Amino acid sequence: MIFDDSDKQKKKITGIKKPSELDAAEIEFDRTYDKNIRPKTFDEYIGQKTVKDTLKITISAAKKRNVQLDHILLYGPPGLGKTTLATIIAGECGVDIKITSAPALERPRDIIGILMSLKEGEILFIDEIHRLNKIAEEILYPAMEDFTIDLTTGKNQTVKTMRVPVQKFTLIGATTKAGALSGPLRDRFGIIHRLEFYSNEELSEVVKRSASILNISIDENGAIEIAKRSRSTPRIANRLVRRAADWALVKGNGTVDEKTAKEALNSLNIDEYGLDFTDRELLKIIIQNYNGGPVGIETLGVALGEDIRTIEDVIEPYLLQSGFLKRTQRGRMAAPLAYKHLGYKYVQNNGQMGLFE
Ligand code: ADE
Repeated sequence: MIFDDSDKQKKKITGIKKPSELDAAEIEFDRTYDKNIRPKTFDEYIGQKTVKDTLKITISAAKKRNVQLDHILLYGPPGLGKTTLATIIAGECGVDIKITSAPALERPRDIIGILMSLKEGEILFIDEIHRLNKIAEEILYPAMEDFTIDLTTGKNQTVKTMRVPVQKFTLIGATTKAGALSGPLRDRFGIIHRLEFYSNEELSEVVKRSASILNISIDENGAIEIAKRSRSTPRIANRLVRRAADWALVKGNGTVDEKTAKEALNSLNIDEYGLDFTDRELLKIIIQNYNGGPVGIETLGVALGEDIRTIEDVIEPYLLQSGFLKRTQRGRMAAPLAYKHLGYKYVQNNGQMGLFE
């Protein structure tokens, strides 16, 4: 599916595959993400200061030289604003953006169709770009390099290749796994930026901004409480502020304060570190069943009943960065903070750390 993210009606051009429940949920969320709260300019976009500052310079320089903006790769955990940044870049360049994702580009004609539909200067955003198949990648290479595509016609002995031009465009690729991109594809991006997790201060600004747009009454401590429990991720913060507002309306006095935020998020099983039931289960399994680890991702996937990709892309990044989990050559290990948070004793035994009782 391609979304023309300008204020025009969204156009459905090709069908989208549902590779897993997770992808379907993520794509659906992006699609319905309240247009009103999505920042539309760099000034409205909170956080990611270095990325923003560098992009502003790059965009100004391209405008001054009157050349097409280089292709951009944005990577980092889900929910940090890669799609939002891409739409802001398009806005700053004064061009339209077409949004799609790699799983929707399964057949050669999907990617060829999009490339041929682009108008001069437009931005093509491909989410989950690490999942592009080899054929789609190879179609993309000449398009990225010199705005041409190689079309083949006929079969067997009569096969012919025609090189046809496409309009100048900028590709913005987004991925949660820069390492999974093939070398040749990565090398064709002139600009590569990694998005970082947000600080609690930045997230509380995001929460207050969204609350004010959505007419949600919230105080400073309410915003901080939501920020602390949002796994350093604005997409989660924007979801939780809505849930806390529901709670405030039904059970409180209509304002999201610290007490309401705590009650609302506790009721959703989200603890004071932002960990949910699955996060805690994962850590408990490592501690209880595997003596703190190391344990391989496949084993963990089976024990937890979760898809390995969901563990790697969605669950783990925050657990790793917040110090609950460690990744070693031999597998995942629970860190001392996980023992402490979940109420286990962390002791040393024969040079090994873990749960020994
Ligand atoms: N909503 C989601 N991400 C945001 C950001 N970075 N700044 C402001 N509002 C947001």
